[in-house]
Amino acid sequence: MAATTTVFSGIQPTGQLHLGNYIGAIRQWLGSQDECFNILCVVDLHAITVYQDPDELRRVCREAVGILLASGLDPDKCLIYIQSHVPAHSELAWLLNCVTPVGWLQRMTQYKEKSQTQDSVSTGLLDYPVLQAADILLFDTDLVPTGEDQRAHIELTRDIAGRFNMLYGDTFKLPKPVIPKIGAKIMGLDDPTSKMSKSIIKERPHHGIGVLDDPKKILKSFKRAVTDSGSDIEFSDDPEKAGVNNLLTVYQALTGKSQEDVLANFADARGYGDLKGGVAEAVIEILEPMQTRYREMMADGSYVDDVLHTSAAKARELCKDRLADAREKLGFLADRTS
Ligand code: AMP
Ligand code: TRP
Repeated sequence: MAATTTVFSGIQPTGQLHLGNYIGAIRQWLGSQDECFNILCVVDLHAITVYQDPDELRRVCREAVGILLASGLDPDKCLIYIQSHVPAHSELAWLLNCVTPVGWLQRMTQYKEKSQTQDSVSTGLLDYPVLQAADILLFDTDLVPTGEDQRAHIELTRDIAGRFNMLYGDTFKLPKPVIPKIGAKIMGLDDPTSKMSKSIIKERPHHGIGVLDDPKKILKSFKRAVTDSGSDIEFSDDPEKAGVNNLLTVYQALTGKSQEDVLANFADARGYGDLKGGVAEAVIEILEPMQTRYREMMADGSYVDDVLHTSAAKARELCKDRLADAREKLGFLADRTS
């Protein structure tokens, strides 16, 4: 029998999960949970690389786990846990820090962009990709399904693993990124030149669609979506048509239709208003049942905490040997009691 493929991915609890997260990441995790072993981590240690209000961080962590479960991820098939519940993430990050040249981190585009928005840049923000590498390498991960924005982090993970293996002998498996063909970068509805992101939604609610947004708000955000002054409904990489292209991509990703079928679906549309309404309807059709499941699940006060508790215990057990192996390879003296 073929060995099970291990899938690892993470999501930051820095705001409500949005449609970009659902299309770019969660959908892929749902698609692999029957064939692969999915390990999904809500990365609170990554979140605090920029200031988070402590009460809000706790709230958003539980909300994120509730959304993952409500989306159909099955805790009997995958692990869903909070990163800080498994201290091995932090420990391996330190070990990997010591083989990672600082220049590799300074060159990361995400670091350059994020650090520009901060008054004071934390060391953690620069080190963010090393912690991400630790997340992935702890579990002998084969595949890392994410949106397009994470490609560089996964390449860096491979470089860090390669460097450790070169210096200390074969220790870490090199993971492969899995980026979806459709919907790897969902753009903001109010500005189709920037990626839909949690931080922008906090300031401008109509920038994106929160997974828990009510149908009226979803329709309103789509109706206000920025398009262009023309009337052609077409897939296009012309920057002028970025808004329409984004709407069609959302629709295509959610319905699984071909481009031809998507266009045929909107062939009778009278202008962009109909397009926006049709896309909003497809989004509501997916999100509404998920929201009902979410509310039911959250009404049971202990369900989420029970899942987290069980998953974290399994994750701690699973990564023990890889961490011990890395410690030994580095030449740490074993503690007789451990
Ligand atoms: P984050 O919200 O940055 O924690 O991202 C969690 C996951 O969602 C990662 O796999 C990201 O690549 C993916 N993701 C985030 N924003 C988008 C977006 N606008 N379009 C597609 N995927 C996204
Ligand atoms: N950096 C990822 C993001 O912002 C979150 C993340 C942390 C992650 N650790 C990971 C993604 C490991 C994939 C694998 O989306």
